[in-house]
Formats: sequence, structure tokens, C-alpha cells
Amino acid sequence: MVQNFAFPNQAYIGGRWQATARTFTVKSPYSGEVVAEVADCGEAEAKMAADAAVAAFREWKKRTGFERGKILRRWNDLLVAHQEELGRLTALEMGKPITEAKGEVLYAASFVEWCAEEAPRVNGELIHSRFPHKRQMAVYEPVGPVYAITPWNFPTSMITRKAAPALAAGCTVIVKPAEQSPLCALYLAKLWEEAGGPPGTLQVLPALDPVPVSRVLMEDMRIRKITFTGSTPVGRILYRQGAETLKRISLELGGNAPLIVFEDADLDKAVQFTLQSKYRNAGQTCVCANRVYVHRSLEADFAQALAEAVGQLKVGDPLDPSTQIGPLVGPEGLEKVTAHVEDALAKGARVVAGGKVLGGLLYAPTVLTGIRPGMRILEEETFGPVAPLMPFEDEEQVIAWANDTEYGLAAYLWTRDLGRAFRVAEALEYGIVGVNDPVPSAMGANLPFGGYKSSGLGREGGHWGMEEFLETKLISFVLP
Ligand code: SIN
Repeated sequence: MVQNFAFPNQAYIGGRWQATARTFTVKSPYSGEVVAEVADCGEAEAKMAADAAVAAFREWKKRTGFERGKILRRWNDLLVAHQEELGRLTALEMGKPITEAKGEVLYAASFVEWCAEEAPRVNGELIHSRFPHKRQMAVYEPVGPVYAITPWNFPTSMITRKAAPALAAGCTVIVKPAEQSPLCALYLAKLWEEAGGPPGTLQVLPALDPVPVSRVLMEDMRIRKITFTGSTPVGRILYRQGAETLKRISLELGGNAPLIVFEDADLDKAVQFTLQSKYRNAGQTCVCANRVYVHRSLEADFAQALAEAVGQLKVGDPLDPSTQIGPLVGPEGLEKVTAHVEDALAKGARVVAGGKVLGGLLYAPTVLTGIRPGMRILEEETFGPVAPLMPFEDEEQVIAWANDTEYGLAAYLWTRDLGRAFRVAEALEYGIVGVNDPVPSAMGANLPFGGYKSSGLGREGGHWGMEEFLETKLISFVLP
């Protein structure tokens, strides 16, 4: 028995819980124990969901923002009330430590709360016409049914960050959650149902193989928007597929975040902040620091202090409230982390903390020194609890290194020099920059989240996130 409360495991289509011909197994990445058998959707379910989303859209878009906001407000309250259950499901299905997982549930709810308040404020604009006999206005309308593909690393908040603004704007949403984390998605649908969300407005299609579901929904002209969080290669495929039906598209893709510690940084704080930025969710976060550049004058002290702090992190069972680092989500993740560390060691890096598999999918929180250009760990997203430290000499050099990547999601810098803080923040080609701030997007329902270059298109959060789900219509009146 891995849970002590009931949770849905069937697909949620058109307001009904539906069994499917096949199921797939969700296992705990920590214990390997079976958590649930879950409905495995394919083309037939995707077609049903598309029809239901289109039918529901006709009614949902006519509701006032006030009405939609009220249902979202109830959804928010239910999420908060079920923080324990959602936190537990998160820990069970994808291994995030329960304390962090429960924090994520509040983060997820914050998007719903913000959008509940914003729904009645989607106002248009009156425009001064060039012609005295005309009156003109721009009105916003929901873009239409939306297909949302969501990741396992934030199994509740990456759904609400997409679904809440879409639903507030008057769109209907079909969610295809990652195969590692369907249970949180289904639980969110159950709470939406309890909140009074009409049938077909939010649907959840778990699938072991996303291709059949995606094919149907990407080819369907009636699905007007795709929103995706995941890898850059998959984002490129969706971008190409979306071109056929000219879907609106939002992509939140991979990162390779630099973290720069300048010589005037407060060492203790820089170490604590690096710990938060790098090791959150065992390093499985798109915005996690991936490479740490430390000014040469601080390198030895910084490496020692970080190694000591990292050595104190408690690794283990994600259901234990004192655990800080859980398992990686799957064997591919562990292989990648191991390969990056081995490549770095083969090219001259040294381990000052961790550097080994602890059993199962647990990887010891790690600090490496002696990092040089040409190592995979600097060039690719590691998505694990490993901090590679590389020394630098001057500001211009480190900015050039930080920007020398196809990615541009998040970057961090530590300095007490205000001029430098602005200079460097402005020079970094990234969508999010934390200046002495390890989690700039924390509780960021009102903040823009998204990347430059191969890290994505569009923004989530705040009015930017809402605009992604709105069309702008010009209505022009000639006075009779
Ligand atoms: C992500 O890793 O995609 C989300 C991180 C966050 O919202 O803080």
C-alpha cells in the first residue's frame, strides 16, 4: 500500500472518467513499487476529447470572466485543501521530496488564484479613430481549444501555469501529462470537476506513447493552440507540426543556466543560493544552474564551502519530510548525469563532493572542480544534482562564456556592485536573470517565465501568460 487515499486512474474526457483498452504502470522511482495502473489513451480518446473540447468551447467562451473566475477560485481553494494528497502523489510518482512537492502545490495554486482574479479583467481597448464617423475598438477573445503537453518535473504547477490562464481566457484545455506523472494531472481534473468546471473544459489524457494522441490533436484544425514544456528537440517537432494548421504556439524548452559568482559576492550567501538554485528537485529543473563560474580569487574557498554544504543534504525517500534530494526520475536521467560526470573526470575534472550513484536512482549531490571548455557538462543540460565549477578572470570573458550556448532560459549572478549587477543582467541573453536571487520565478504567477533562443517561444505567468490564449479582434463601427 503506497497511498492512503483514493485517486483517479482513468482518463477524464468530456466530463466522464473513462477506462481504456490498455493501461500502463506508474512506479515509484525511489522504491520501484507500483503506484497505479493508469488509462493509456490513443487516437480514439484523442478524437473524443477534441470533439468534447470544441463543443464545450462554444458555451465556455460565452461565460463572463466573473463566472469563469468563480470556478477558478473554487479550484484554487480545492488545490490548497488537497495539498497533502497532491504532494504525496508527486513524491510517489516522480520522486520529488514531499516537503518540496507540497510547496509546489501552493505554487500551482498561485497560478489558479491569480487567473481567477484576472479573468474579469480581460478588457479590450477603445481606439481613437482617424475618421470622425467611425468608432473603433479592440476586443480580446479566447483563442479556442488548447492542447497542453506537460512535463514530469513539476507535475502540478506546469499544468496550472498553462490551464489556469487558458480557462480564465475562455479556452478549453486538453492536457497530455508526462507518462511519469499522470496521477497529479488526473487529481487536478478531479478537483476541477468538484469546483464545478463544466464537462469538456479541462480534460486529461494520460498516454504511455504520446505520438498517437499528439498526431490527432496536432492535425485537428479546431485545436487552435499548443502549449508545451519539455525538451528542445520535441519542441522543434511540435513547432513544425503546428505549422500545418497554423496553431498558436508556446514552448518552454531546455536550458543551460550559467551562475556567476563575482569576486565581491558575499561568499556564505552565494553558497546558500547556489545550493537552492542547483539542487532544487535534485537538479531536475529547467531553470537550475547548470554551470557555475566562480571568480578565480574565490574559487578554492567557494568550492570548499559548497562541498561542505552539499555534504549535509539529506538524500533518500521522497516521502520522508526531512529528505532534501530524492531519486532521479528514471534510468535515462541517471545515465546522463553519470555520463556527464565521467566525461568531465576523463578530461581532468576533480570530485570535491559526491560523484557517485548511491543505489537505485539516487545520485549523490556533487561538486566538481577543474572544469574546462569542451566538457559535456558545460554544453548540455545535466538535469541532475551536479555543480561544475569553472574559474574566470574578468567580467567580459564570463559574459561571453555565459552567452555561448544555444539556450537562453535562466541565468544567475552574485555581486554587491550595483553597476555590475545591471551591466551583466542586461548583457545576458536570457529570459530570466536572478541577481543575488536563486529562485527569481518563486511563486511567480504574476511574472513572465520563458526563454530566448532555443529555450522557447512565448511567456507563461502574469498578463503575458494570459495573452498567449487570446485573439485580438478589431470591431469598427461607422456611425449611420
Ligand atoms: C521548470 O523547470 O520548467 C519550471 C521551474 C519553475 O517554474 O520554477
